[in-house]
Amino acid sequence: MFSRTPGQTQSEPRNHKRRDTQLALVAATSYLGFTVRHGKKGSTVPDFPILDGKRILLVIAGGIAAYKSLDLIRRLRERGCEVRCVLSEGGARFVTPLTVAALSENKVYHDLWSLTDESEMGHIRLSREADLVVVAPATADLLAKMAAGLADDLASTALLATDKPVLVAPAMNSAMWAHPATQTNIAVLMGRGVHRVGPNTGSLACGETGAGRMAEPSEILAAIAAFFDPLARGDGPLPLRGHRALVTSGPTVEPIDPVRYITNRSSGRQGHAIARGLARLGAHTILVTGPTAEPDPPGVQVIRIETADQMLAACQASLPVDIAVCAAAVADWRVRNMADHKLKKDRGEMPILELTENPDILATLSKAGPHRPKLVVGFAAETQHVIEHAQAKLTRKSCDWIIANDVGPSTGIFGGERNTVHLLRASTDGGPASVEDWPSLSKTSVGERLATLIAEHIAGSNTKAPS
Ligand SMILES: Cc1cc2nc3c(=O)[nH]c(=O)nc-3n(C[C@H](O)[C@H](O)[C@H](O)COP(=O)(O)O)c2cc1C
Repeated sequence: MFSRTPGQTQSEPRNHKRRDTQLALVAATSYLGFTVRHGKKGSTVPDFPILDGKRILLVIAGGIAAYKSLDLIRRLRERGCEVRCVLSEGGARFVTPLTVAALSENKVYHDLWSLTDESEMGHIRLSREADLVVVAPATADLLAKMAAGLADDLASTALLATDKPVLVAPAMNSAMWAHPATQTNIAVLMGRGVHRVGPNTGSLACGETGAGRMAEPSEILAAIAAFFDPLARGDGPLPLRGHRALVTSGPTVEPIDPVRYITNRSSGRQGHAIARGLARLGAHTILVTGPTAEPDPPGVQVIRIETADQMLAACQASLPVDIAVCAAAVADWRVRNMADHKLKKDRGEMPILELTENPDILATLSKAGPHRPKLVVGFAAETQHVIEHAQAKLTRKSCDWIIANDVGPSTGIFGGERNTVHLLRASTDGGPASVEDWPSLSKTSVGERLATLIAEHIAGSNTKAPS
């Protein structure tokens, strides 16, 4: 379905200014183009977490390159986009509605005069219930109709009726592309704020070589991601520039003897993603992390520790900071009677491990004082009564926000790629905390979303500063 998820606060870019999508593409690819393991064979694909949950209306016009749009649909779906497709008259001659419907997992629209479609959805609604309209391939014919404001079929009518930004990926023979009529049309469209990706120069389906080859699906995907990413577009200042952020991540490791230890299943993936998100918004970010296999986030100062005691010391040495996010899974206990030599099995008796409580890093950072960060965010990893326990933790630790998640074994959250969390914000008037349920998101998306909310909070734009 094409509904916006409740609580989703991602701002919808509505910038219709002319901009060079290809430049943005380079920025986006260099910024967002890290890879994730994907698929059975463990191949890698570029990850664009910003696309998660975005609604794309894809218009497929009548060019040979329409077959590449099938791959584009697949790539968008893999990244969590909702994809709804319109086939032009010509488009339906190159790819079948059945294939498009199967790949988009959605109904396909191609008839302006369909009574069923009109009663179910209507061409105006169809054109508006999207975050971005993408035309790929954009034929010479459809570009001409768009420039002239014609509306004689569903594709051109939807494009005329939409109030959403439009990205075109032209594809045609090089003479058609070079023709003054096409060049005038594309100039008119870009002057009206339509975005463009491609065309590339290379061998064309007609056997000629030249400009007119549709951008590759990976390039169109990156252009779409760049469209949604204000930072990749280079619009505006970085909102957290000039602020210091501290993030803890990963497990702690509490030794039993020089070779054995107690730890937990935290992968550090979520904490690292938050550090990445804050650094991306310009914060000077310090990441204090237990042992993890996660790569160091770019532009982040990383301090590696093992025990909870070391983590606390590293955090305290990093103060003052404006923001503290405690995402580490700190062991609650350590071994009081840690042996300074390897415990031997052949002594005939079982060692008894005596545990003692570890320092509470979240509560320590949340304590009022001159160095208390403006915003302290904790994590509550629970296996039952998630919200109630998180609410109690928020009060007990005196932090400002808690990210609560269910880490029961069935959720696959520990070590997994995705996370379903709830954001609890302490009320400033002593009332109950507000609870915001987030949809299932990649951990990178959770990190970016949290960083955005933190930036809004720090800017004082959405909540009062914590007392
Ligand atoms: C085999 C074949 C390939 C075509 N390839 C293209 C193309 O790549 N780009 C283009 O602008 N037109 C191409 N055309 C012409 C369009 O299909 C034609 O202009 C049609 O009216 C486009 O309609 P539409 O843009 O509404 O889909 C091709 C036509 C045929 C028969």
